[in-house]
Parts: sequence; structure tokens; C-alpha cells
Amino acid sequence: MRFTLATTNKSKIKEFEAIFKQSNLKYRVELLKTKEIQSTDLKEIARESVIYAYNILREPVLVEDAGLFIRSLNGFPGPYSSYVYRTIGVDGILKLMSNITNRSAIFHSVIAFYSPYTGVKLFSGEAGGEISYEPRGTSGFGFDPIFIPEEGDGRTFAEMEVHEKNKISHRGKAARKFIEWITGLKTLPPPYAFVE
Ligand code: IMP
Repeated sequence: MRFTLATTNKSKIKEFEAIFKQSNLKYRVELLKTKEIQSTDLKEIARESVIYAYNILREPVLVEDAGLFIRSLNGFPGPYSSYVYRTIGVDGILKLMSNITNRSAIFHSVIAFYSPYTGVKLFSGEAGGEISYEPRGTSGFGFDPIFIPEEGDGRTFAEMEVHEKNKISHRGKAARKFIEWITGLKTLPPPYAFVE
């Protein structure tokens, strides 16, 4: 089934493209800014956001919502990650944590897919790790320079190539669950199967 990846985040597009191209998925990218409702639940945000995108595009659509949850800050910035990134940024987070030794944090990603045939489908992924004491690396986006994934080798996400980050990242994990589901759909009878 063809679908549209709706996002304005160029780095997310790069990460999704690196994964999708391995699976021969048919999709296009739409630089669409989706509406994000105020909620503490990423799943709710992603669900509303995909319905909003579908109502504009009127074609099967995928959106993703992610956030960084820092344990010692009780999960902050969590669903407010993009606002916090735009306002206090990486340096602001490091200042907030300057006297904190528990650096444990987790990235959550929720992919929401909608088509009239399937309804809303959600796929989530998580990456645990630690907040570094200083920013390192120049690739990626957002909080990548201060996030050291526990499944990695001590480098921050921003010190990794896209394919290395995808292997262990929250988004990579959610994307692989989505791919498994959507590629499996073809084997099901109508109305769940899609005829090109
Ligand atoms: P969004 O609402 O899903 O676009 O993401 C919220 C914010 O979380 C982004 O603006 C980034 O600051 C941060 N974020 C989400 N995913 C990542 C990631 O993979 N690396 C670094 N920061 C991320």
C-alpha cells in the first residue's frame, strides 16, 4: 500500500528513508506541519495528529511523535520536548541537570498510521540511555548531542551515522514494527489487503 509520511522534520525524514528503503515500501513525503494537541500522552498526540493529517491529505498517512523523558526530572521534557528544545535547548537541559548524578533517560517514539481500511494503528519504540555532561557530535537533531544510548558504545546519537542510530533508536524500533505490520497486510484477504 502506498502511504504518505507527513512531517516537517528533515532529520526524521532522513532516518525513515534509511529504514524504508531497505523494505521496498511505496511512500512519498509531505512536508506537512500536523497539529499537536496538548496531552501528556504521546499516543494521544500521535493519534490526533494522524487524523488531522489524513483530513488534509485524504490518503493513507504516517506521522510520528517522540519525546525525551529524563528520570531525575520526573519525565521532563517528555511530551513537551519540542517546545523545550526550542526554548531552553540542549544547554538548558544540561544546566537543569548540573547537580544531578542520575543521568538516566529514555526516548519514546510513537508512529501513528491511518487509512480508511485499517483505522488508526500505533507502533511504539523506546531507547534507554543517559544524558551526557556536555554535547558531543554534529549529526542528527534535537537532543541527540546529549543522549548516550545504553545499547551503543558510549557515543551520543549525534556521533552516529543514521544507520547506526536507526539500529538502536526509539524511532528505528517503532519503524520496524510498522514495516512488519504493513508488509504483512498484503497477505490478508480484502478488506484488509490493498490492491494497487
Ligand atoms: P516531535 O514532537 O516528535 O517532533 O519531537 C519532539 C522533540 O523531541 C524534538 O523537537 C526533539 O527535540 C526531540 N526528539 C525527538 N526525537 C528525537 C531524536 O531522535 N533525537 C533527538 N531529539 C529528539
